[in-house]
Amino acid sequence: MALYRIPGRENAIHYFPEIESTMDEARNMAQKGCPAFTVVVAEQQRKGRGRMDRQWVSTKGGLYFTLVLRPDINPADCGRVNFLVSVVLANLLRKEYHIDAGVKWPNDILVDGKKIAGMLSEMATDGHRVQYLNIGIGLNVNNDPCRVEPNATTMKMLLGERVRRTTLLGRFLNLLEEAMVQMTWEQTLAAWRNLTVTLGRPVRVVTTREIVEGTAMNVDDTGALILKTTAGTTQKIIYGDCFINPS
Ligand code: BTN
Repeated sequence: MALYRIPGRENAIHYFPEIESTMDEARNMAQKGCPAFTVVVAEQQRKGRGRMDRQWVSTKGGLYFTLVLRPDINPADCGRVNFLVSVVLANLLRKEYHIDAGVKWPNDILVDGKKIAGMLSEMATDGHRVQYLNIGIGLNVNNDPCRVEPNATTMKMLLGERVRRTTLLGRFLNLLEEAMVQMTWEQTLAAWRNLTVTLGRPVRVVTTREIVEGTAMNVDDTGALILKTTAGTTQKIIYGDCFINPS
């Protein structure tokens, strides 16, 4: 695939054969005032970034992109958009590709316990308004991340054939645009709960400050995870990584 030519989106897709990280380029574009739904996509990233300061291995064949959004919402509600994006992506994999995708809190997409996609977001505010909310997605499509990430899977491995990434990205953007107009937070949360592989499970949550173990009980109205700790207390986790413990 040489270029991401997606009908109707020619002016909004910026393709790079190789880049440090699509997050950096998208931030530059967002700061210069690019329109919402601008997409920066790369065949390879030299410094792909994951959540919690991890690296995101970005070799040829994967789908690596950052989407610039400009939602007219309170900055405190930006987490809700991340939930919507993960619901749209998981449902796309399920409905169009018959892949049994689930969502692990907050926004990882898993298949049979293995990670197929991750999301990273970055936002800038202007007082009480969101200037931009950039959402970066790394989706394992035709790449082979399993040597460095043994707990990963790819669409090609699951389907036994290569997947056309232009079609995949085009479908995702169309569905997301539609969902952003139509879906309320209550509907998003209900859809997320239907797809979750986290709730009701014993988990270990790693935050920047601590490691907490317990049962994932719920997510609240901001998308924070409500945990019943093994010590019997209730704890709210706003940012962290969640690992499902064997029960
Ligand atoms: C995670 O699960 O830790 C999040 C991974 C996000 C990776 C994507 S790939 C496209 C965009 N550019 C980056 O450098 N990171 C995100």
